[in-house]
Amino acid sequence: MKIINGKKIASNLNEELKDRLQGLKKNKNIVPTLVVILIGNNPASKIYVKNKQIKADEVGIKSTVKMLSAETSEKDLLDCIDSYNNDNDIDAILVQLPLPSHINANKVTDAISYEKDVDGFNSKNIGLLAQGRPYIVPCTPLGCLKLLHTEVNLIGSKAIILGRSNIVGRPMSYLLTNQNATVTLAHSKTKNLKELCLDNDIIIAATGIPKMVKSDWVKEKAVIIDVGINQIDDKNHKKILVGDVDYSDVFSKVKAITPVPGGVGPMTIHCLMENTFKLSLLRRNLKYNF
Ligand code: GUN
Repeated sequence: MKIINGKKIASNLNEELKDRLQGLKKNKNIVPTLVVILIGNNPASKIYVKNKQIKADEVGIKSTVKMLSAETSEKDLLDCIDSYNNDNDIDAILVQLPLPSHINANKVTDAISYEKDVDGFNSKNIGLLAQGRPYIVPCTPLGCLKLLHTEVNLIGSKAIILGRSNIVGRPMSYLLTNQNATVTLAHSKTKNLKELCLDNDIIIAATGIPKMVKSDWVKEKAVIIDVGINQIDDKNHKKILVGDVDYSDVFSKVKAITPVPGGVGPMTIHCLMENTFKLSLLRRNLKYNF
């Protein structure tokens, strides 16, 4: 069994990206620019956005945060997005989710120009990914894929994804299909989930249910990517973070597994930086050779 050290892998990739960004600045005088729109006061969202800003700063991406009040109307938000779509100084736009309930998230993600859609959530980008000709790929699934590539040959492998969200599960299923894996996309109505998991070489857990996956669900030598970040109380009533997989229960059985924290999270932020860089090149018809 092996711990897949997402923190270390992301840190190495961030160093490489930093060099590329320095090259871009030196040779073309371009500094990619990301704008993050944060609506309301969700404490978790505030932390995520802060972490994105810090990482952007570290690697050499210019980032700005547009803070809007929780009462902002859908129309005002759409107008704000449109002004960034038309702003030649902005390469990448991210609207932090979740949104207040009076705002339609699909309308918002579709309002972002697909060429600035750093999350890859709008329907054009999801459609292109589903057709196997991606323009930009959602950050968390892309981060999971990079981690998988360090451990397994995906061609012909059997992978099950737990959770069909638009942010993780669905795009992950397209990405793995494009990589020639045989994919099962499981969800809350799936029958015989345990047996299905036992039949797969790879499990991607993205349900939001703490420690849902137990050792008797897991095939010997499976590779597990745990996307969950759940806060629970431990035995001493201290708040701790756990994934969707019961890590200590499955550990002796698996080939490799990501920890929580320090697994997928840092890779998501890396991929956000990489996507910003990529969009800044694509928009200018500059060569993109990852
Ligand atoms: N909220 C949780 N994950 C994400 C993400 O990947 N992108 C955005 N925009 N919001 C999120």
